Formats: sequence, structure tokens, C-alpha cells
Amino acid sequence: MSISNFKKDKKIRSLAPKDFKEETTTVWSFKQRGDWATHSGVYRGNWSPYIPRNVILKYSKPGEIVLDYFCGAGTTAVEAKLLGRKCIALDINDKAIELAKKNLDFNLNGLFDQIYEPELLIGDARDLSFIKDNSIDLICAHPPYANIIHYTDHKEGDLSFYDIDGFLNEMTKVAKESYRVLKPGRQCAILIGDLRRHKHIVPLGFKLINIYLNAGFRLKELVIKRQHNCKTTGFWYKNSIKYNFLLLAHEYLPIFEKPKELLSSKEDYTSYDKNVSLSIETCNCRKTLKEMETTTVWILPKKEYINFLNKNIIKRYATGKKYKIVNLSFSSYKNFKWEKVEKEDLSLLLIYSSIFENFDISKDDIKNYLSKGVELIDMLTPFLNKTGHVVIKLKDLRIDSYIIPVAKLFVDSISNDFLKLKEIIIITKDEEIKDFHKDNQEKDLKINHEYLLVYEKVK
Ligand SMILES: C[S@@+](CC[C@H](N)C(=O)[O-])C[C@H]1O[C@@H](n2cnc3c(N)ncnc32)[C@H](O)[C@@H]1O
Repeated sequence: MSISNFKKDKKIRSLAPKDFKEETTTVWSFKQRGDWATHSGVYRGNWSPYIPRNVILKYSKPGEIVLDYFCGAGTTAVEAKLLGRKCIALDINDKAIELAKKNLDFNLNGLFDQIYEPELLIGDARDLSFIKDNSIDLICAHPPYANIIHYTDHKEGDLSFYDIDGFLNEMTKVAKESYRVLKPGRQCAILIGDLRRHKHIVPLGFKLINIYLNAGFRLKELVIKRQHNCKTTGFWYKNSIKYNFLLLAHEYLPIFEKPKELLSSKEDYTSYDKNVSLSIETCNCRKTLKEMETTTVWILPKKEYINFLNKNIIKRYATGKKYKIVNLSFSSYKNFKWEKVEKEDLSLLLIYSSIFENFDISKDDIKNYLSKGVELIDMLTPFLNKTGHVVIKLKDLRIDSYIIPVAKLFVDSISNDFLKLKEIIIITKDEEIKDFHKDNQEKDLKINHEYLLVYEKVK
């Protein structure tokens, strides 16, 4: 059972967070989890109320209907009530619904003309047959992350008892139901994290995004939610270096949109063959660095961004003397040759891609980049030594107001038996972004994160 302290009532001090500002970029970071109204961390694995608050404010209006089919202790339902939205919230766990009812037992003392009490139900997210087609204005939900925390005593249908493949299979049903009940043109936000198994990363976040995209959704935003409870000093710092792994410090909040009209076909990024290829240029960097990054989120000084990036990557992943930093750009690498580099010689191949700095990049360019980039990695893998690493820096792009999740597409495209995904690192600059929405009618988020995909040679 994941509820502790079940009977204790919480004294309400305020009904809203202090000095709240809506998020305007793709990296969301809340130092405190939030304890206004009845919010508390009593239910294990509950999400910070700042997440549903931001999502509800951005993507719905007062009086509209919000659905959370993984209600837990009712964080979304409490926010919906506080913000004057109607809400349907269900959970397979009857104890969670009991707790959610307690959490919703507060008075709004004439704050709104109309107060909507959320509808709380014991139910299964895979079967929303009690909800009509095209009737929900917003979905905002936080599933279990496969079977890392169990929520019931093995109740039939509890998705927290499925292993990764089984979980994704069941989520296919949830995504299909989500698509059916949501109104066209409206949004569905899902929080999900990655898992580490046998020292490598299972990109559960990217896999779940694929499931919702296959159900017919488009990707409106891909938000990174930072986790603040990560231990980064003492014991953890030493072990992170000794065993060369990073503490998982981020989750993904993809915000999907149901298209207004039925899409004729799904976009395919897997096959592309235009007669353009990538070129390689080699650069150099020194290794000295006082303190290494130890979690999967690196916030680096804006002024020395690339310098800090290189140093951190080289210090952690260039375990032998020889490494290469390359830059890929469109032209030809047909006659590519490295001087003084033998097979199995390199401990690190660090790949930057200057094509992403180009403002006019098209979908065709991305398709071309992906197919050639993957081909290039296959060509260069033999130069890596037995435990060598490939690190590639990528970023999501927005084209025609939707996100092209380039890092996810890259992970989808790599099928090299010699390489295993070791880390997905989020990198961002320590800059303050002010008033981004001033000139942005659509209220799209500013993409201010990039990715490092770290692959390890395993054969
Ligand atoms: C990560 S928790 C959600 C926490 C919630 N956001 C909160 O703040 O309290 C996931 C929830 O999914 C529920 N769950 C698991 N399988 C389910 C299913 N098939 N249908 C509905 N809820 C399910 C679990 O009981 C658990 O409460």
C-alpha cells in the first residue's frame, strides 16, 4: 500500500501558490513540490500540483472538463476545483479515491460564482466507455512507470504490476480511449520517466510518446520536468563517478494534441534517401574540470556552454587517451579518412550537428540527417574500443507549431547491435528567460533544452 499517514488531516493555509508564474519554456523546475490547499506528499508517487496547475491554465478555460484517469490522491482534481474547471478523475485503487475524496473536502468560500465538485470514481483508464466521444476538453494524467512502484495489493487491472512491454501494451488501450474521448483540437498531457535496467537506460518516456503518436495524436510540446530530490553529494557523487552512471533527475511531460481533422497518414522519419550526405570535421578540447555533473540534468553557464559540455563529456566518457569530436553538416563524407586512427582505437566519439543551428531546417532535412547520421554511426563504431562511447548532441525542433522530437527519433532509428543506450542527458543554459510570451500569440513554449544521447559499446 502506498499511503502512509492516512488519517491525518491537513490544515489549509492558502488556496494558491505564492508568487505563481506560468511556465514559458520547456524546462519546468519547482524547488518545492507545493503544499497549498490540501496538497501533500502523502500518496507515494503523486505529482507536484504545479504540473496540473500549469497544464490546466494553459490548455483549458473555466467551466471546461478536465479528465485525469490516474487520479491517485486527486492532485489534478484539487487543482481543477481551485481553478473553476469541471473534473472527472478515476483510479483503479479504491484507497486512492478515498484519499482523493478527503483532499477535495474543502470550501472555496465564494471564490467563484460557480463551483464544480470533481466527479471521483473507481475505474480503469483502459475502459472509458462511460465517457462520450469528443466530450473532454483536457486530459492531464500521470501513469505508473511500469512496475517500479506498486499501487494496490495486485488488483486486477493495476498497470503498476506490468513489466515494461506489458505496461506499454496496456497503455496502447489508454491512448486509444484518450483519443476517442478528447475533443478535436484539444490537448492531453502525460508525465512519464525513464528507467535504468542492467546499467542501461530504458527510454520509457520516448516509448510512451510513440504509443500516443500511434493512436493519432500530434506532439504539441515536449516538456522536461526536473526532479529536485536527487542526491548529488558525498556517497552518490563518488559512486556516480566510480560506476560511471548519472542519477535520473528528469521526467518528460509530452503534451499531445488531437488534430482537428483526421490525419491522412502518419509521418514517417525512418526511410529517406535524398542524395545529400554529412561531412565530418574534427575538433579538439582539454580535459581539466573541477567538478563533474552527476545527474541527468546539466545546467551549464551560458558563456562557457560548449566548453563545459566538452569537458564534462570527455572527463566522463573518454576513458582512454584517444577521442574525437566531430561536427556533422550536409555535404559529402564519401572519401572520409582519419589519419592515425586504427580500428578499436577511440574511447569516445562526440558528435555535434551544426545543421540544427539553421533556422530554415525542413522536415526533409531532418529525415535526411537521421538516415545519414545513423549510417555514419554504424560506419564509425568499429573505431571505438571495447568499452568506448558515442555521445551525440541533439535538440527538438518546432515546425508548423508542432514538435519534431529529434532525440526520440534518433533513439528510434538506431539499431546497432554493438551500441546500448547508457544515458539520456538533458542540457540547458543557466539563463533567465523573461517575457517570452509577449510576442508569441500561440503561447508555444520556448525550447530551451537539448539532449546528449550516450551510447556504450557492448561487444
Ligand atoms: C503515479 S500515480 C498518480 C498520482 C497522482 N497524479 C497524484 O498526484 O496523486 C498512478 C496511479 O495510477 C493508478 N492506476 C494503476 N493502474 C490503473 C488503471 N488501469 N486505471 C486507473 N488507474 C490506475 C494507481 O493506482 C496510481 O494511483
